[in-house]
Amino acid sequence: MKQLFITLNDGNKIPQFGTGVFQVPDGKETLEVVKNALTLGIRHIDTAHAYQNERSVGQAVKESGIDRKEIWITTKLWPNEYGEGVTSKAIDKMLERLGTNYIDLLLLHQQFGDYIGAWKDMEKAVKDGKVKSIGLSNFESNRLEEVLNIAKIYPSVLQVECHPYYQQKELKKRVEKYGTVIESWYPIGHGDKGLIQEPLFTQLAKKYNKTNVQIILRWHIQEGNIIFPRTMNPVHMKENLDIFDFELTPEEMNSIRKIDSGKRFFTMTLEEQEKNLGAWKPED
Ligand SMILES: NC(=O)c1ccc[n+]([C@@H]2O[C@H](COP(=O)([O-])OP(=O)(O)OC[C@H]3O[C@@H](n4cnc5c(N)ncnc54)[C@H](OP(=O)(O)O)[C@@H]3O)[C@@H](O)[C@H]2O)c1
Repeated sequence: MKQLFITLNDGNKIPQFGTGVFQVPDGKETLEVVKNALTLGIRHIDTAHAYQNERSVGQAVKESGIDRKEIWITTKLWPNEYGEGVTSKAIDKMLERLGTNYIDLLLLHQQFGDYIGAWKDMEKAVKDGKVKSIGLSNFESNRLEEVLNIAKIYPSVLQVECHPYYQQKELKKRVEKYGTVIESWYPIGHGDKGLIQEPLFTQLAKKYNKTNVQIILRWHIQEGNIIFPRTMNPVHMKENLDIFDFELTPEEMNSIRKIDSGKRFFTMTLEEQEKNLGAWKPED
């Protein structure tokens, strides 16, 4: 597969296309998904402590026999792991679960808890060589600026819901001057049929002899978003990868930009997230 890389604000090069393992059960399923991805040439895996499958991700990477340096692993800390001193210990446990001596990209998964203390420990982990790049996920409120204001290392990425119906144009402007790149979660709307079957994608799919999902993923790539669509179906994984032999025209990119409707598929407010997600803790 053709690898495209994006150079982050810290100089590290992240593969723009990866695979995500949210809701992929630990054990056999995660092993299969990650091994299949690596066999197909994918070199970027997006996991999280909250997904409870870091051990299987680490095992699949090891068993692949591929040089660790060629594979980009992103993982995320949960709010119960935030705080000066607390986060450093959580990172050590993460390294153990993943069976690796460094993490390529470490994110704060949610925008609540002691995220300021956590950021300081993450910066220390970069200095100590335990983590290469650090970033944020779901920081869309003014808590984003709170972190930016104290950061000695600016977030390399901001991972948020982003797809043609919710393109994050404003957020991109807010982080532009820090060199922070948007990573799209729900790149195909979590598989939403309404988004996938949007007539514009059907029309473009016909023109390029591609599927509607391939048109959406190609749009993300040309838009400069980092993506890691998730699939447990090997046929879909192959299909999702097959997007590097055609290019949407500037007019087509613009017409997709125009279907941004502000529709989100994840609708919990920050207060609800804090209350509901904050009460939950992943197992070690
Ligand atoms: N930071 C965060 O808070 C956060 C939140 C959500 C997600 N994420 C990350 O983003 C990744 C992607 O998000 P997601 O997994 O929820 O949503 P997604 O990638 O937008 O959609 C996944 C769904 O699309 C289906 N699909 C995949 N390829 C397809 C194809 N070619 N044709 C038809 N259907 C297809 C999958 O089903 P099949 O298995 O049947 O293919 C699955 O149901 C996650 O795995 C995770 O790494 C991060």
